[in-house]
Amino acid sequence: MTGIADNIDQDPTSTIAGRLDRRRVILAVTGGIAAYKSCHLVREIIRAGGEVQVLMTDAATRFVAPLTFATLSGKEVLTEMFPEPPPADPIHLTPARWGHILVVAPATANFIGRLAGGLADDLPSTVALAFQGPILLAPAMNPRLWTSPAVQDNIEQLSRRGVNFIGPEEGEMGGVHEEPGPGRMSEPDSILNRIEGLLADRSRWQDRTVLVTSGPTIEPLDPVRFLSNRSSGRMGDAVARQAILRGAEVILIRGKAVAAPPPDGVELVEVETAAEMSAAVKAHFDRCDLLVMAAAVADWTPESPHASKLKKIDGIPELTLCQTEDILAWAGSHRSRQAIVGFALETDDHLEKAGLKLASKGADLIALNDPTRPHSAFGGETVRLTLVPRDGEPEELPTLTKREAADRLLEAAQRFLSAQ
Ligand SMILES: Cc1cc2nc3c(=O)[nH]c(=O)nc-3n(C[C@H](O)[C@H](O)[C@H](O)COP(=O)(O)O)c2cc1C
Repeated sequence: MTGIADNIDQDPTSTIAGRLDRRRVILAVTGGIAAYKSCHLVREIIRAGGEVQVLMTDAATRFVAPLTFATLSGKEVLTEMFPEPPPADPIHLTPARWGHILVVAPATANFIGRLAGGLADDLPSTVALAFQGPILLAPAMNPRLWTSPAVQDNIEQLSRRGVNFIGPEEGEMGGVHEEPGPGRMSEPDSILNRIEGLLADRSRWQDRTVLVTSGPTIEPLDPVRFLSNRSSGRMGDAVARQAILRGAEVILIRGKAVAAPPPDGVELVEVETAAEMSAAVKAHFDRCDLLVMAAAVADWTPESPHASKLKKIDGIPELTLCQTEDILAWAGSHRSRQAIVGFALETDDHLEKAGLKLASKGADLIALNDPTRPHSAFGGETVRLTLVPRDGEPEELPTLTKREAADRLLEAAQRFLSAQ
């Protein structure tokens, strides 16, 4: 079935032609109404110079005929784990070895659950399990399904394992009788951009080491009491996870108070106090190409914590605080090749303060977070960041999940990496 793609009208004036440069995309189509949009996605990948091998679940073939995808991709669509006659090559492994990226679009609630659970009961799920490169899921489902705790747990688990997601978006559903809400599959153009980004990013980040700090520090007053803050560690963990996905080596220096399991594949260094965080950053700084300081490090610490528990009977204790070390400023003044990204949490005069921080700390980029803005609460699931580079205009990002914000931050930081 080769050669059929040659018949697709190739627009010679297309600005996207050649963007994928013969990169090989495995596209698993699963059984949702948005499967019709994936026909357009195949067409766009081919127009961008990529190759596509389509796999379909049994349910997907109820929505769109394999013939449509075969015609658009110029390749036989694989649907059967046990085709007759049996092929000489193991069909459940061959596509996984062939592809540079695996895209699941649309990704049904069912498929997401099967992938999270490690099931391999049809060809697409088995290939997805065997595939060792970057995986991108474009979920598409009714808002009732998307918001169900089971689906959200599965998403969380897959994110932790390093699976990438695009969407779903808020808006009209495919079915005319469906209520609008979050669950609409991202548009093929956006998926194509993301495929291109993931493939390009991997070549830029492989052989790079990223040092990420995350979570709160804890400053003891006595053996049982401490000063800390509301940081959940989610932002730093998301940066670490997205950097792993790009193929970087990641050292995550994280406050012990963060209970969540660390992202798979990171080298985890757990610390408690600001002083321990400082020491850990200094110990690993030489190895890294990029430092992202997402931890909420205490600015002050009790000058002399008590060795034994302070007793209520002794009255209100006098608390003298002293300044902790400014780790970002230390890194800025000790860097050789390292790119440096800091976070700033400001509730007023945001941009002005971020600009001052950039200059005074010698950083390349500041991610500015105003926790008083809607959907940007400290410790929450979403964030609204403004990225302030040392050499350009601030970029105000919309409300994003921390995973998406981490992606945007790494994209912005990428250009500050030194040439290798
Ligand atoms: C008309 C119709 C539309 C459906 N659309 C979706 C959808 O958009 N997303 C989804 O997760 N499931 C949807 N389903 C349910 C899936 O098709 C069903 O869970 C199926 O088992 C998925 O199998 P698969 O994940 O192996 O493709 C739909 C079912 C019907 C009957």
